[in-house]
Amino acid sequence: MDDENIKDLDYFVDIQPKKKIEFYEAVLEGLSLPQKTISPKFFYDERGSKIFDKICDTPEYYLTRTEIALLNDIQEELYSLVEPGSAVVEYGCGSSIKIKALLSALPEPSHYIAIDISKSHLILTAKEIASNYNNISVAAICADFMEPIEWPEKASFESLKRLAFFPGSTIGNLRPSEASQFLKYVRHLVGDEGTFLIGVDMKKDAEVFNRAYNDAEGHTADFNLNLLHRMKNELDADINISEFSHKAFYNEKLGRVEMHLISDIKQVIEIDNKEFPFEKGESIHTECSYKYSVKEFSELAKKSGFSVLKNWSDKRNFFGIYLMKAI
Ligand code: AVI
Repeated sequence: MDDENIKDLDYFVDIQPKKKIEFYEAVLEGLSLPQKTISPKFFYDERGSKIFDKICDTPEYYLTRTEIALLNDIQEELYSLVEPGSAVVEYGCGSSIKIKALLSALPEPSHYIAIDISKSHLILTAKEIASNYNNISVAAICADFMEPIEWPEKASFESLKRLAFFPGSTIGNLRPSEASQFLKYVRHLVGDEGTFLIGVDMKKDAEVFNRAYNDAEGHTADFNLNLLHRMKNELDADINISEFSHKAFYNEKLGRVEMHLISDIKQVIEIDNKEFPFEKGESIHTECSYKYSVKEFSELAKKSGFSVLKNWSDKRNFFGIYLMKAI
């Protein structure tokens, strides 16, 4: 990252794992499992992040626009519920619309610290906030937030009141045990006086999910298949991408949407002289997107060190926002 790019920021810290090695190891390990599996965190290279933005604009993918509308609706309440002068730490900053809705709602926020695995998205968002909010000190940390973050020394953070922000129902992409682990990291980060605002997709009719994860324009399919492009481009995988298809469905029993890449024929993927055979119809499981009722999420929060101060949802009860405090 050159200095020119970060000159508006208070600081920029890159503690991202060495990308290529991490992806290589995850793919080799994941393709060796009985149910072939690759973590959804690998969707978000530059191309994947751009496709994800397109998904958010599709008519079927209600999550983003429902959450933004809800954030705008609750601005006055947030103003009275959140401490003045808070430092806002956003995990997985995607679009700047949500953080702007939050920063504009809060009473005199002092700091904004963005944490994301995708460096290009992170810098863009942080710079945009820095240029729009002159009274807020803005910083960026490039990291995998599923690992505990070593807080940079230059961030004198301890004395500030901290509000963590995790929109987009990204918590749903973690298995419940990982989600609880993540909430515990956040609990540690915000400290005893801290608060946490989080957006969570709610349980609903399977049909709504099946449409949202199979948009007519095919952006979700592109997003899923992007993993194979990454394997080809970055790992020099010998792979016939056109012989794989996108599949997404709601698994009612487990309360989650699953995405898979299905092999349309019997074939072999070869990476670094290692062969990974596929039967016709066999899949790589690429994503879980867990959905939570208010009761389920409140219980998860409680066992992870938070209690719900207040929660909101839209008229259709599609999407929930929770303001929680440390317990
Ligand atoms: C980022 N995350 C919350 C999205 C989701 O809905 O699980 C990722 C996504 N996968 C397919 N469409 C969108």
